[in-house]
Amino acid sequence: MQHRCKSSFPWSSSTVPMALQICHHLNPCLPLSLEKTQIRTTKKTPTFFTRHSLTGHCSSRFCNFSNGGTSVTGAVKDEQVLSTSTETQISETNPFPSKVVLVVGGTGGVGQLVVASLLNRNIKSRLLLRDPAKGTCLFGMQDEKVLKIWKGDTRDPSDLDPAIFEGVTHVICCTGTTAFPSRRWVGDNTPERVDWEGVRNLISALPRTLKRFVLVSSVGVTKFNELPWSMMNLFGVLKFKKMGEDFVRNSGLPFTIIRAGRLTDGPYTSYDLNTLLKATAGKRRAVLIGQGDKLVGEVSRLVVAEACIQALDIEFTEGQTYEINSIEGEGPGSDIQRWRELYKAAEDN
Ligand SMILES: NC(=O)c1ccc[n+]([C@@H]2O[C@H](COP(=O)([O-])OP(=O)(O)OC[C@H]3O[C@@H](n4cnc5c(N)ncnc54)[C@H](OP(=O)(O)O)[C@@H]3O)[C@@H](O)[C@H]2O)c1
Repeated sequence: MQHRCKSSFPWSSSTVPMALQICHHLNPCLPLSLEKTQIRTTKKTPTFFTRHSLTGHCSSRFCNFSNGGTSVTGAVKDEQVLSTSTETQISETNPFPSKVVLVVGGTGGVGQLVVASLLNRNIKSRLLLRDPAKGTCLFGMQDEKVLKIWKGDTRDPSDLDPAIFEGVTHVICCTGTTAFPSRRWVGDNTPERVDWEGVRNLISALPRTLKRFVLVSSVGVTKFNELPWSMMNLFGVLKFKKMGEDFVRNSGLPFTIIRAGRLTDGPYTSYDLNTLLKATAGKRRAVLIGQGDKLVGEVSRLVVAEACIQALDIEFTEGQTYEINSIEGEGPGSDIQRWRELYKAAEDN
């Protein structure tokens, strides 16, 4: 397993001034719960629908595309595609057959783990992606009842067609861009446009019937004027994330905000779905959850992905903002009772 640290945020070691490189010495390599579950290998006739026609559709078994400064190669193995092609099959194995989760930013480091985990749970999912071909490369050709992909850029309100949200019961938003100028800013894809305007546009487009909106944000957003956060906020990333958060809080929608510490492990952008499901969180499986923006540290992307998925079904996380870190030790895995306890303990502290 390759563990690359993508320079996507000021905590990433390649972009952070030395003084700001917090705790990057911990080791990855032991599995989180995802790998416990076997992937089904039934191969059905796949369908892949988008609102717009696909450009750069992944016609070969191997896809190459650029993820900013990182070259991404996804090997899509047909026989490894998790495939359930009928409503009946989904209902049989899914405890939440009426649940439809839209993931925004599903090609990102956290987002792809969220999507893989939802697929592994047989939860019907939707993706909103700027480049649908990336979704095919990562998750294979799926029946649209299982995974439907829409093309859209959150910066453009006209991309957020109501049809995208039809039937969607829950949304997990993991969008983001680099904190400092990079190739990923090309086309004005800056923190202001993505973390503020994109989140605002998305929230404004969502149906009022939504059961939960989960936003992945960052620790430190309330302290962007203080050192060391002010250095990380040189181009406004923390300020704009906070503005996005505030819009979510004032939206009237049932929300949960998960503020991640510095992200570790992955992103597993070079791998296919099967590999994503085997992604590991190293020894950092123990989870720390806080409130009040006091937690400083690191967190495994797998832990963040699991925290988002769990929050969808824990009723008392509605309307709450949490910070999350992970440290060496045994973690909650995908045990909902243990996640309930962790979230509850954060509120009690
Ligand atoms: N890195 C850290 O240490 C750290 C720490 C705390 C919090 N965070 C935050 O945690 C979240 C998840 O991080 P990550 O590393 O998983 O992010 P990531 O790998 O950078 O992924 C970002 C995702 O957002 C999508 N996106 C970007 N601009 C978009 C737009 N205009 N419209 C629609 N989608 C867009 C990207 O899609 P494309 O594939 O089209 O680019 C990608 O799927 C981010 O908000 C990040 O800022 C990161």
